[in-house]
Parts: sequence; structure tokens; C-alpha cells
Amino acid sequence: MREVIYLDSASTSLTPEPVLQAVLDYYRGYKANVGRGVYRLAQLADQRYRDAHRKAADFVDAKGEGAVVFTRNTTESINIVARGLDWKKGDRVVTTLMEHHSNLLPWMRLKKGGVELKVVPPDAEGRFELADFEAAIMPGTRLVAVSQLSNVLGTVLPVKEIAGICRDQGARLLVDGAQSVPHMPVSVKNIDCDFLCFSGHKMLGPSGIGVLWMKNAGEVEPLLAGGGMVEDVEGCDFSIKAGYEGFEAGTPNISGGIGLGTALDYLGKVGVEEIQSHERRLTERLLGGLAELKGVEIIGPGPHDCRERGGVVSFNVSGLLPHEVAMMLDQAANIMVRSGHHCCIPLMKHLGLKYGTVRASLYLYNTMEEIDKLLAAMEQIAKMG
Ligand SMILES: Cc1ncc(COP(=O)(O)O)c(C=O)c1O
Repeated sequence: MREVIYLDSASTSLTPEPVLQAVLDYYRGYKANVGRGVYRLAQLADQRYRDAHRKAADFVDAKGEGAVVFTRNTTESINIVARGLDWKKGDRVVTTLMEHHSNLLPWMRLKKGGVELKVVPPDAEGRFELADFEAAIMPGTRLVAVSQLSNVLGTVLPVKEIAGICRDQGARLLVDGAQSVPHMPVSVKNIDCDFLCFSGHKMLGPSGIGVLWMKNAGEVEPLLAGGGMVEDVEGCDFSIKAGYEGFEAGTPNISGGIGLGTALDYLGKVGVEEIQSHERRLTERLLGGLAELKGVEIIGPGPHDCRERGGVVSFNVSGLLPHEVAMMLDQAANIMVRSGHHCCIPLMKHLGLKYGTVRASLYLYNTMEEIDKLLAAMEQIAKMG
């Protein structure tokens, strides 16, 4: 498997040995349920699972603030907020046209209950003017939901400034951090958001584990009710536990949570700033190289502006479909890239890209040599277009 060049980390990342080991250690050494037993193994499992929540909170600078809940993924985290807030007819949700379907469809569903949806479009490079948000966020706006880093164009949104507008208008801010948290330092305190959502599988962790951080969990009704989340049951009523347990009814993904904890340790040791600088160097080379190829069009910010973007690079080759390019890269050069609409159909329609884009997305394990191999392969492919 590792003979290939893997450039699809925006979809899901690779998993390092220590994470695999942590998952195996749990299954081999101390498999027990959490939040229930008093015996030694149950206590150990509970401790490790609890520690993983603490590590996730520390990772996004949420120590001592709000609650970190484990979910299945970013999609579930967003849906918990969409389903759990007490919406009223006429409430307004503001989002953008650049969002992944996971940060669009949950809000679209609210329209049935009379919630109004305002979708702000980006310019051709995926940039927004703050004035667009100032115009869209108004009294009555209950929630603004934006992705911090686009999974198609690589652009970074000014979420801190958007948070300021939200505060002024009394709106909550949800940040979809699926692409940002794995690749750049993210601080919920610095942004001053109300919700942050991200996925373990995109940041070296196992699949099936995600995170929802909430500043004020009391505003959100848990999606599930059942075992493990209950403080007391009296007659026909129940009260729920404080903290994450109230939101994690049923046996959770224990090994996934523990594995995520190890992934966060791993990322912490390498350093997210270091990862960001490494990706920036690779991205500069990739964009610079692609810009020189005749017949290749970069979709999103080009080489002129690598500071305000992440390591997600979309492009197209004239005369070839994105899927054709991806197949050629696989067959000719063992390079794995994504192609298609990247779960962003509204953005693709806005940009007039019926077949989507080819997307190379980078992470800490990619090398300059791999980028050069991609560029060499693209040089050949572009000649066929
Ligand atoms: C920006 C963004 N939001 C949400 C998601 C959904 O993540 P998941 O599939 O882990 O729920 C993705 C996945 O690619 C994404 O890129």
C-alpha cells in the first residue's frame, strides 16, 4: 500500500503505527465498557477514553471552557447542533456556498420548520468580503455555520472576524473545522465561536470518531437518549449527566476515542505549526509547478497567495475529465488524488464545473519529492488534453 503517493488526505488521512497500536492495546489488553464498571479494566478504559476528551479539548485550546463530545464524524457533530437547538419559525441560518454538503444539508432540512436559510456566495477564488457577512448576518440570525478551510479551494475563511459580526448581532457561530483543525492551529478561545466540529479520521485517528465542542452545551438537546447518559430516572422523567456523557448515549466508539487521543499526542509532538509550514512549502511548489503547465487551470487561489490557504489544491486539465486525470495519475504514476465534486455540488455549479475538479490534498507525511513526481506526471498528462 505504501508504494503509492497518497494525496487525498482531505478525504481521510493515513494512520500512524502508534494509533494502530493504541487501538490494538485496548482490544488486547483492557477491553471493557466506559462510564459503567468499577472493576480495574473498566476504570482503565474509562480513564483513557476520558483523557482523549481532555486531549481533544486541549488541542483546540478549549481547556476549562465548554464541553467536548465524541461523535462519529464532523457530519454527525453538525447534525447534533442542527437537530438540538430549539429553533423557532423565522429564525435565520447563514452559511456559504462553499460548504461541504455536511454543513449545508442539515441547515436545509430546517427550512421545513420555517427556518430561513441565507447562503453567501464566494468569488471565483473562494474568497469572501467581510461586508458579505455583515449584510447577511442581522437581528434574527440564530446561527452562522461556516467551514474554516475549504475542502475544494483550500481557502481559509476569516472566522474570527465573522465571530465578531455574530457577537454584534446576537448570533451563534458554528465552525466546521474538518479541514482546518488537522492542518493549522485552531483556538476556540481566539476565534470566540460557539461550536467547533471536526473528524478524527482526517487527523491520523481511526474512522468513526469525531468531535463536537460546544461553548454552552446546555443550549443543545442531545440527539440520543438512553444508557450511559442518565443521571437519574424518576417516574416518567429523567435527568441527564453533565459533560460529554449526556451527549454520548449508548456504548460509544471507545477504541476510536482512545486512538484519536494517541493521534492528537502524535500531532502535538510534531507540532501543528510545523505541519502548517511544511504543507505551505509543498503547496507553494505544487501551485507554482501547476501554474507553468499549459492546459492546466488551478481552481482557487494560485501561487501568488499561499499564506492564506491550506494544502488543498484543485485543478483541471483542458480536454480531460477530472476522473480521467485521476485514473491516469493512478495508473501511470501510482499517485492517488481525488476527483469529482468533493461533496460540494452547489460550489461546483456556482463555478460552472459540471464534472468538478482534480484535487490533491497534502499532509505531514507528504514530501517535496512526491510533489515533483506529481508535477512530472501532470506535465505528461497535460500534453494529452
Ligand atoms: C469541510 C468539510 N466538512 C465536513 C466534512 C465531513 O466530514 P466527515 O465525512 O468526516 O463527517 C468534510 C469531509 O471531507 C469536509 O471536508
